[in-house]
Amino acid sequence: MMKILFLFGCVLLGLTSAKIPSYIKPLICRASDPNIEKCLYNSFEKSRPYLVKGIPELSFPPLDPFKIPIMTVNRTLNELVSIEAICRDVVVEGGRNTIIDSIKADVDRAYGELRVTVPWFAMEMDYDVSGRLLSIPLLGKGHFKGNFTDIKLSVKGSLERYQKKGEDYFRVKKVNAKGIAGDGWVKLTSKNPNLQLGADIISNFFNENPRRTMDAINPIFVETYNELFRVIADQILANLKASEWLPA
Ligand SMILES: *[C@@H]1O[C@H](CO)[C@@H](O)[C@H](O)[C@H]1NC(C)=O
Ligand SMILES: *[C@@H]1O[C@H](CO)[C@@H](O)[C@H](O)[C@H]1NC(C)=O
Repeated sequence: MMKILFLFGCVLLGLTSAKIPSYIKPLICRASDPNIEKCLYNSFEKSRPYLVKGIPELSFPPLDPFKIPIMTVNRTLNELVSIEAICRDVVVEGGRNTIIDSIKADVDRAYGELRVTVPWFAMEMDYDVSGRLLSIPLLGKGHFKGNFTDIKLSVKGSLERYQKKGEDYFRVKKVNAKGIAGDGWVKLTSKNPNLQLGADIISNFFNENPRRTMDAINPIFVETYNELFRVIADQILANLKASEWLPA
């Protein structure tokens, strides 16, 4: 069973209608622009500081640090990997350094592809986990810290139009994101000091061969951020008319 749940703070609580703030307006690309990919690339570079801090007018959450107050993951991949976890106060840092490798856009199909490299991201959270990770049983509560480097991420996605109160809006039709980290380390600190040994076993198992663990749990990560992209994108799109995003 796959089940992932994110709860955000008030940042993502629905506004009923939004307006593109004046500082973002010059960054909107026109559908008829023959060089729309170049326009999107330039817009992304120029909007980087806003994306990092967030654009509350558009329900766009701050990306660096990116925070999720609570998230649950409940997923069994196979007999070797299963994770049932409640993660609280998740903080991810490093998104500000994202490098765009390529952008493709097909306006008529409302389809786009984005490839990026994130040189590093650091993650912290409180966890309450049970399950299995290859030869290691997972059980316990504590604090997780990790830093992952050389992350390649590709996101392909398409939007569809729908009508709400007589106006056209977009929503996510498909999103297909894939990513892989080059390297990383983790450190688990058990809430109960008597159980620190078990937490160290997990950290050491990860750190002695990050590739082994990252490959094994990659499907869970992939599902998690696909779901996350969809939730965030729909939240942003729901508040703004299609004509404002993509003027002719
Ligand atoms: C996790 O999934 C399993 C299997 O579907 C289910 O039995 C269990 O109750 C779920 N746990 C939570 C916390 O939802
Ligand atoms: C994560 O690792 C990178 C590369 O080693 C380093 O530059 C960065 O400062 C680290 N970030 C944190 C928050 O530890």
